[in-house]
Amino acid sequence: MSILVTGGAGYIGSHMVLALLEQRQEVVVLDNLSNGSAVSIARVENLAGRDVVFIEGDVRDRTLLDRVFREYPISDVLHFAGLKAVGESIEQPIRYYDNNVGGAVTLCLAMESAGVRRLIFSSSATVYGEQDSVPYHEGLPTGVPTNPYGRSKLMVEEMLRDLATADTRWSIALLRYFNPVGAHASGCIGEDPRGVPNNLVPFISQVAVGRLEALSVFGNDYPTADGTGVRDYIHVMDLVEGHLAAMQAIANRPGVSVWNLGTGRGYSVLDMIQAFERAAGCSIPFRVAPRRAGDLAQVWADASKAQRELGWRARRDLDAMVADAWRWQVNNPGGYAA
Ligand code: NAD
Ligand code: UFG
Repeated sequence: MSILVTGGAGYIGSHMVLALLEQRQEVVVLDNLSNGSAVSIARVENLAGRDVVFIEGDVRDRTLLDRVFREYPISDVLHFAGLKAVGESIEQPIRYYDNNVGGAVTLCLAMESAGVRRLIFSSSATVYGEQDSVPYHEGLPTGVPTNPYGRSKLMVEEMLRDLATADTRWSIALLRYFNPVGAHASGCIGEDPRGVPNNLVPFISQVAVGRLEALSVFGNDYPTADGTGVRDYIHVMDLVEGHLAAMQAIANRPGVSVWNLGTGRGYSVLDMIQAFERAAGCSIPFRVAPRRAGDLAQVWADASKAQRELGWRARRDLDAMVADAWRWQVNNPGGYAA
């Protein structure tokens, strides 16, 4: 049997594909390369010493999906393909709904018609919106995401719940990622954002390597210990291991299951700068800038449900996250393109 990984040429997907290959699984990757790189697939194959089937194409292309399901004996689908830039989603909302919601609809229709009903969906902590207190646990009602990207994730979650209610043969995991960072310890694959990074860790990495001048810290007047925003950063390899555990669990678990993938601990922006300075052995110039619209003061996961039900927990600490992010950045200062 094969696993279909949509978005497998992207940041998280490429790390996932490597872990699957290392588990001796057969992998089919479908990616339109809108934000991914074929080089990442080649490097994954090199690291694993095994090949994947790579199909360059769009998850909204029903004809292509039907062909993929006909040609390969797919048992499970890991659906990473999607657009993820919050600011861009505000400027181009329809593109985001088309890609993220439309993509999931087409994928589910093709899965249904192929009789494949095991799906892992890349959701986000953004579906909680702003809650009264941290940590966020899966029992909380979903909230109001502050942007179209977040709403597209919530819409897909709700659609998948409806699907599993209507047809109990489906087994679906909604994995709510907190803040994935870091890279594979080899330094051969990692996060390669196009243009100026939106997210904190890739931005700091590019400052440390000299591609960007200084970090803007978005607000130092939040009600947190040092005034800067607090997030639950999770190593991408821990995140990937959470998917492996979820895949195993839903094999015998019909319906929809929701798991947070986080560490259960928060770090501030200043904590992240300091950790990076330790890893890179240089100082990270920064200036305090106004708050970024839509940002929350503090978000971290209650990670106990995944530990209880999946036997999984994040193992890699902050120093490992930033050391691995830094190794990737130093080895590949220009990303995959260079
Ligand atoms: P990424 O952009 O690196 O990877 C996504 C991949 O999907 C890219 O390779 C892109 O080319 C591909 N893609 C996009 N639209 C496609 C389409 N219509 N058809 C085929 N391929 C398509 O992003 P990532 O960080 O690896 O995120 C993976 C998933 O996890 C996304 O769904 C994202 O929304 C979700 N997520 C990410 C984060 C994060 O901070 N990285 C947090 C929460 C959730
Ligand atoms: N930050 C800065 N400067 C920067 C970038 C970020 O100070 O240049 C701060 C932010 O204000 C925030 C923290 O660093 O306090 C983390 O910001 P990121 O952009 O790295 O991550 P977010 O928590 O804002 O975003 C993540 C995901 C989104 C998701 C969102 C809500 O990247 O996909 O969580 O769950 F929508």
